[in-house]
Amino acid sequence: MNHASPLRLAIAGLGTVGAATVKILESKGNALAVATGRPIAVTAVSARDKARERGLTLGGAHWFDDPTAMAAEAEADVLVELIGGADGPAKAAVEAALRAGRHVVTANKALLAAHGPALARLAEANGATILFEAAVAGGIPVIKALRESLAGNTVQRVSGIMNGTCNYILSRMEAEGLTFAACLKAAQELGYAEADPTFDVEGFDTAHKLALLTALAFGTEVDADAIYVEGISGVTPLDLKMADELGFRIKLLGVAERTAGGIEQRVHPTMVPKTAQLAQVMGVTNAVSVIGDTVGELTLVGPGAGGEATASAVLSDIADLARGTVLPTFGKASDLLIKVNRAPMKRHEGGYYVRLQTLDKPGAAATVATRMAENGISLESILQKGRGQRAEAPSVPVILITYATTERAVRAALKAIAHDGVIEGTPQVIRIER
Ligand code: HSE
Repeated sequence: MNHASPLRLAIAGLGTVGAATVKILESKGNALAVATGRPIAVTAVSARDKARERGLTLGGAHWFDDPTAMAAEAEADVLVELIGGADGPAKAAVEAALRAGRHVVTANKALLAAHGPALARLAEANGATILFEAAVAGGIPVIKALRESLAGNTVQRVSGIMNGTCNYILSRMEAEGLTFAACLKAAQELGYAEADPTFDVEGFDTAHKLALLTALAFGTEVDADAIYVEGISGVTPLDLKMADELGFRIKLLGVAERTAGGIEQRVHPTMVPKTAQLAQVMGVTNAVSVIGDTVGELTLVGPGAGGEATASAVLSDIADLARGTVLPTFGKASDLLIKVNRAPMKRHEGGYYVRLQTLDKPGAAATVATRMAENGISLESILQKGRGQRAEAPSVPVILITYATTERAVRAALKAIAHDGVIEGTPQVIRIER
């Protein structure tokens, strides 16, 4: 028998993650109480539709229609916010809970990316904290790793595949030659995608997660506005085929790195060598790689989306609070977090894959090569695909792989090439990470 006073939870949101969290609390309640030394009780719940059948007991929990009223009034020590969204009811409920001195456990990366610094200060002012293991990379315990386990490191770089929907889509497009639209639909049906899938496929979800990792990795304030963001909706089957021929896979990566010019934060489709660790990560699986000066490189791989995987992370935060582990939201007191010294994307250095639809006439490819050379870009390879079945086709794809250069040089060369009138349409640019 455990006689310690229970940790009382008010749960806001009973969607995929909320329902999975309650189910696991119901089935593993005793084991958790033994492990943490304290029973854990759900004393209040709030969700949009009270009548919906979720297969949950929810015994003596008090039902609230309004999550903010619950956050302010419920007999609870912790608000578990699983509503989602940067503003609206999620933000109102989190603020109400913090003002009442209750801790918050949340999976809401959009909220923390937009309002993290202000919410962390509000938590501190009220003797509370915000825990958000479930907000980044689903079931992978990367928040704890950065906030606690890597304390003995100066982090150089954190990068990873942090959107299960995108990785699932790219994996299936590559393996089965399916369209982007068909793969997105399948991801939505499997419950991986955000309510608005634009957040997933246009890279914003990865950017939200990266913003949180950057703050923890570099001891900075969350600065999501500084992130360069490009999604995967423009990646074509031809790019995947070319990547395969050239020895790469295309992954949507989030990367935060210390550079000579400051901290670079970027999210974009990336050519990753097939032999790289991140290239092995397929489907909804996520992976986060951290380079620290003491530990070297560390890669954590696991399920990045889905109810149970995310609930696993929510339960880890709940267990910490039950044990009495209360750390500042971003690992340090808010006034110790420094502002991000932003490294602009145009100074990014690396290799590039450029696919141009080049007019099928003498000198067109030579013009392209000349413009690259004029901008100091050294080419590793040029691949020209033939006219195929359509001998009358006015243009043919030309693929350039560059050695390390800068974003500024690539953009300048492409501007000149467009001006020369030797290509059709918009060039495809995909950065390479070796
Ligand atoms: N939509 C997200 C993903 C869920 O696909 O990874 C987890 O944040």
